[in-house]
Amino acid sequence: MEISIVGSGYVGTTVAACFADLGHDVVNIDIDAEIVKTINDGDAPIHEEGLPELVAEHAGPSGTGRLHATTDYAAVLDTDVTFLCLPTPQNDDGSIDLSIMEAGATQLGETLAQKGDWHTVVVKSTVVPGTTEETITPILEAESGTTAGEAFGVGMNPEFLREGTAVDDFLNPDKVVLGADDDRALATMHDVFDPLIKAADAPVVETDTRTAEMIKYANNAFLASKISLINDLGNICKEFGIDAYEVADAISLDDRIGEQFLRSGVGWGGSCFPKDTHAIISAAEEQDYDPTVLKSAVELNDRQPHRLLDLLDGHVDVADERVAVLGLAFKPGTDDVRNSRAIPVIDGLRKRGADVVAYDPVATANMREHFPDIEYADSAAAALKRAQGAVVVTDWDEFAALDAEFDAMADPVVVDGRRIVERREGLTYEGLTW
Ligand code: UGA
Repeated sequence: MEISIVGSGYVGTTVAACFADLGHDVVNIDIDAEIVKTINDGDAPIHEEGLPELVAEHAGPSGTGRLHATTDYAAVLDTDVTFLCLPTPQNDDGSIDLSIMEAGATQLGETLAQKGDWHTVVVKSTVVPGTTEETITPILEAESGTTAGEAFGVGMNPEFLREGTAVDDFLNPDKVVLGADDDRALATMHDVFDPLIKAADAPVVETDTRTAEMIKYANNAFLASKISLINDLGNICKEFGIDAYEVADAISLDDRIGEQFLRSGVGWGGSCFPKDTHAIISAAEEQDYDPTVLKSAVELNDRQPHRLLDLLDGHVDVADERVAVLGLAFKPGTDDVRNSRAIPVIDGLRKRGADVVAYDPVATANMREHFPDIEYADSAAAALKRAQGAVVVTDWDEFAALDAEFDAMADPVVVDGRRIVERREGLTYEGLTW
C-alpha cells in the first residue's frame, strides 16, 4: 500500500516507521522542515526505543527506501490512504483544541480536490466521539468539493501506544480497532493492517467512527481510574497500617482484576491520561451527563502529591531546608515531564519555603523549563547530600540501588511515592500507601 501520514510526532513517526517495516511505502508529511530532514537522513526525530533502528532501516541512505518525509501535501496524491496523526492539545476548560486537526484536514481536502481516484482518510489522533463525522469529514468535503462515500471514505483508527514501548506496542497490539462509516474505507484499512493482524494474530474490532473514538477514551479512562482506585484503596491501607502492595498482589489473582496498573503511589501523569480524562469529562458534560466516577478519579489523582508532602510534613518542617526530589519524568524510561507528579510536588515544596534540589537521569532539561530556579543535581547521591528530607516521584530502577547515599543526608527521611527505595537501618522510611 501507498500510505501518507500527516504529522511526525510521537504517534505519526512511530506508525510511519512500523508501516514501512510491514512492507508498505510510507511518506510522512510535516510542516517542520527540520523533522522532515531528520527522517530523510535516516534518523528518528523523537526518542523512542527501537525507532532509530527502524527509521535507519527504511529511510536511511542505505535503507529500503520505503519511508521518506516531506513538507508538501501533494505527496498525498501518490498514496491510497492518509492517516491524520496531528496533536489535539487541551484547552483551559479541559476540552480538546481541534484547530491543528482542522488546519490539517483543510490542507488535505484542498489536495484531494486534485485527486482523480478514490482516497481513504483515517483519523488516528485522539478525538472525542463525533469529531470525525461532524468536523473532519465536512471539512474534507468542503475543501475537496467532493462527497464522502463517493470520492473518498473516512475511517478512525485509535492508537494504544505507550511512550517508551510504542514500537513494540504497535507491532504486538492487543487489538486493532478499525472504525469506518464506509465499506471501502474499511477495506482499505484492512489492506493496511492485515499484514500486522496476521503477524501478531491480533483481534480486530470493526465498528463505526464514533465508537472507535469512544473506545480510545474508554481505554484510557478505565486505566487511569484503575490507578486512582488502587490509590484510594492504598490510602485506606496506609491509614490502617496495612501494606497496599500485599493487598494488590492478592486481588490481582482474580482474573477479573488482573495484575497490571495496580501500583499505587503518587498518581498518573503524562500527555495522555490527564488530557484524555479531562476531554471525555468535558464532552460528557456537554451532553448534560455528570461523569462522577471519572471526576473522582481525576480529583484523587490531584490529591496524591499533596498526601506525599503531608507525610513529609509529619517528619520535617521543610521551610528553608534542603529537600531532594528524586525523579522528574512522568514515568521511568522517558524524559517527558508533561503532567508529571513531580510538578505539583515541587510546587508544594516551594510553597512551604523549601530549597528544592531535584534529580532525574534524563528529564532535567525538560523540567528546567517549568522550574528554572530550583537546583538540579547530576546524581541521586548529590541531591541527597545534606538534604533534610527526600521524596521519590518516579520509579527509576537506579533508586532501588540507593543505600549508603542516605547516610549523607542531614536528616535521613525518605517519603517514597513509588515503592522503589529499599527500607534500611538508619533511614526514616515512609511509603505513600504502605
Ligand atoms: C497511556 C496508555 O497506557 C496507552 O495505552 C495509550 O496509548 C497512551 O496513554 C496514549 O493515550 O497515547 P502512557 O501515557 O505512555 O500510555 O503511559 P502509561 O505507561 O500508561 O503510564 C501512565 C501513568 O500512570 C504514569 O504516570 C505511570 O507512572 C502511572 N502508573 C501506571 C501508575 O501510577 N501505576 C501503575 O500501576 C501504572
